Order: sequence, then structure tokens, then C-alpha cells
Amino acid sequence: ASDGTTTVDPRVPVVDISALPPVSVPVLRSMELAREHGPAFLQRLHGREMLLVSSLELVEELADEERFTKAIGPALQNVREFTGDGLFTAYNDEPNWARAHDILMPAFALGSMRTYHPVMLKVARRLIEAWDRRSAAGLTVDVPGDMTRMTLDTIGLAGFGFDFGSFERDEPHPFVEAMVRCLDWAMTRQTRNPELDHSERDAAFRRDADYLAGVVDEVIAARVASGAETGPAEDLLGLMLGAVHPVDGTRLDIENIRNQVITFLIAGHETTSGALSFALHYLAKHPAELRRVQQEVDALWGDQADPDPSYEDVGRLRHTRQVLNEALRLWPTAPQFSREAREETLLGGRIPVRPGLPIFVLTTMLHRDPAWGDNPELFDPSRFDPEREAARSPHAFEPFGTGERACIGRQFALHEATMLLGMLVHRYRLIDHCDYRLTLKQTLTIKPDGFTLALAPRTPAP
Ligand code: HEM
Repeated sequence: ASDGTTTVDPRVPVVDISALPPVSVPVLRSMELAREHGPAFLQRLHGREMLLVSSLELVEELADEERFTKAIGPALQNVREFTGDGLFTAYNDEPNWARAHDILMPAFALGSMRTYHPVMLKVARRLIEAWDRRSAAGLTVDVPGDMTRMTLDTIGLAGFGFDFGSFERDEPHPFVEAMVRCLDWAMTRQTRNPELDHSERDAAFRRDADYLAGVVDEVIAARVASGAETGPAEDLLGLMLGAVHPVDGTRLDIENIRNQVITFLIAGHETTSGALSFALHYLAKHPAELRRVQQEVDALWGDQADPDPSYEDVGRLRHTRQVLNEALRLWPTAPQFSREAREETLLGGRIPVRPGLPIFVLTTMLHRDPAWGDNPELFDPSRFDPEREAARSPHAFEPFGTGERACIGRQFALHEATMLLGMLVHRYRLIDHCDYRLTLKQTLTIKPDGFTLALAPRTPAP
């Protein structure tokens, strides 16, 4: 159409949400709209359009990399204001994406987790010390808050040798507070009324973004000054400073490295901490599942007071891993990802889509597709039994996105989260002291809001 909007098949619902009041958890509204308008509808917001897609059938088509690719839609363009050409927000055809991807891929292969394992364990023990202290004093624990401390310290140390020391602080590290405000700016900027003045918020955002860049520049400068970048690449920063591209021999430039560090700090902690928090929530609510996970860890670590999980142990925690998967099915903590057509085409044989139209996959709805059976709201880790998994489309479960732009940190997240979850259920009884009712908090990623647990040491199994 001449006004820049899409000509849609009349059977595709068009929903203009510009007049609706802004909501604090956009994913819930998208889910509601999808329930009302079906597996594909065109959403308009202040003249901008995006297609929202929920069904497995359509997502399988969108996963075809010949026809579709990652879109940097409005939300990611906003994040790009502070992560630039880092992996997550780089355009597909930007040379720095492929360069960084090729250089960093080996650092994220499953085998590389052996390198990060000791650091992950060290930080897991910081969390356990903090939880022991609180439970001994009869205090409850702030689950999402402490999971975020744990994942941030882990990616800081494993990635860049930078210690946020989060467990020694009552308030989050200022870096985290600035990062959360930047993410909030990126999320709410999309829904702004264009007629109002937003310059004050934009200036505050700019200050936060400059602060993030400043902190990271100091970390990089310290590493360069130490001369360590010429040594073996024992963490991501060392790798980025030292590595040359395997084929063309180029290196990452300093500005790109800064963008990658900010990207990894953001992408590498909020999502994993949310996944752990949801998993603990479901375990606290499902004693039979909790018992099953406890049996698994007891079989490995018996009644040792302080087990020393090995790298191999983490691979043996199959049921623990299924619990995490099931938590990520119900609440994929990066609740959507976007695609766009490489050329004009018909999605599902009926919906005209063109390059430039962002197509959002509502992962929360995909994960409730009829392919999951009659009771998709039910927490049931046996959905991830190997036989049942093999019988399902690989695209029915996409918490890490799809294609070559899928999550590079998947193994990192799963190793870190599986180990910690195993250690926690081995050590504590999880007491749902306030009969917590799940509510979500969204800052692009989602997590349980205000979720606390009381803890008690487990008595050794008879
Ligand atoms: C990309 C989810 C943990 C680094 C993605 C994407 C998703 C995702 C859905 C694709 C986004 C898109 O298509 O636009 C998750 C979840 C995690 C997790 C649910 C935890 C449970 C991590 C960790 C790291 C990480 C621990 C780093 C250590 C990245 C990066 C990208 C990415 C760099 C961009 C990859 C590229 O485009 O080349 N993640 N992630 N993520 N993730 Fe993760």
C-alpha cells in the first residue's frame, strides 16, 4: 500500500494497540491478543507494524533460513543504541557479525564448558554461602535477586576476569542498575506516544549507556596494559583480544570488543537467572518433581555436606536438566525473537510478508501449541524424556531462538544453571513460606516478581 503499511490477506486480523494503555508486562498482553486473534495477526503501534506468530506450523516455516532470517526489529534497534554491532544486535550482513561469530563459536562449544566449570562452581558456592547465612538467621531469600547476582558474577569472571562481587552488596552493582535502566528504556521506547517530549529520559539513557561503555573500556584497558592478551585465551576477553579469524586473518576492533562485552554481560545473565528462578518456583510447587531431582543428586553426591560437582557430573543431571527445560518451555525468559522474509513471500501460503516487516515469534505461545498435548499449562518435566522429545518437531521448543543467529551461550547457560540447581536441591528444603502466586516482571526478559523462599538444611536421606 502507498502509505507504507502492508496489504494483508483479509483473513489475517489487524490489531491496533496504539490507543491501549501501556502495560508493564507486554508479553502477557501479546499472549492475550494471540489467544483472541489466533496464530498470526498484524499488530499496529503508532503506525508501525509487526506480525505476531504463535503456531508450530508457522514457526517451522519461519525457521527455514533460505526464506527467512533474523530481523533487527524496533526493540533490538533500541538495544543497539548501547550494544552496537555486538553479536546480538548486529545486522545479518554486517561483516563484524560473521567475524565475531566465527572467532567466538569455539569458546561456546560444549567442550569449552570445561574451562568455565571451576569459575561457575566458585560463584555457585558464593550463593550457597549467602543462603546458608540467611537461612541460619531465619531469613528468607530473594530468589530472582540472588540468581541475578550469581549469573552476573559468573559471566563477569568467566568472560572478562571482572568480579562484580555481587554477594557483598545489598544493592545491585551500579553497572547492573544502569543496564536494567537501559533495557527498560529500550523496551518502553517502542510504546511511546510520539507526541510527547521524551528528551529527559533520552538524556538519562545516554548517561547510563556512556557509563556502561566507560566501565567496560576500563576492563579492556586493564587487560591490554597487563599484556595478558598475547597469552593463552583463558576467557572471552582474552580470546577476543588475541584471536585472528580462522580464514581471513582479521581481528576484532576495540570498539566491537566493547560492544561484545556489554552484549555478553546483558545476554549472559538476565535470561539464565530468570530460568533458574522459574525452575525453583516450579520445584517448590511440585514436591513429587522436587523429590525426583533430589534422588538424582543424592545418587551422585550422597549425603556429602559440600559435594564437589565435576564437569562430568553436570552431564549426568538429566532430570535436573529436564526441569530447567520445562521451566523454559512455560516461561522462555527471552519470550520472543524476530524474523523477516528474505524476499516477498506468502507465510502459511496465505499471509503476504516482505523484507522489513518484523515477524515476532511469541515463544510462550509456541510452547503452548497443541503439539504439547491437552494441558500445556501443566508443569511436567517428563515432556523432555528422550523418547517424547524425539517424537516432537525440533521447532516446538525454541527458548534459544533458531538458525545461525540462535543463542551462542546456550551450553554456557545450561551448564551453569543445571549445576547450581542440582547443588541447591541437594542442600536445601525449599519452603514456599508465603504460598507464592506467580507474577511476572519484564525488562525485555521475564522473571518471577517478588519470589522468596524459606530454606532449611536437608537431613541426609535414610
Ligand atoms: C541470542 C535466549 C543465555 C549470549 C539469543 C537468542 C535467544 C536467547 C532467544 C536469539 C535472539 C534472536 O533471535 O534475536 C537465551 C536464554 C538464555 C541465554 C533463554 C538462558 C537460559 C545466554 C548466555 C549467553 C548468551 C549465558 C552468553 C554467555 C547470546 C548472544 C546471542 C544470543 C551473544 C546473539 C547471537 C547471535 O546473534 O549471533 N539468546 N540466551 N545467551 N545469546 Fe542467549
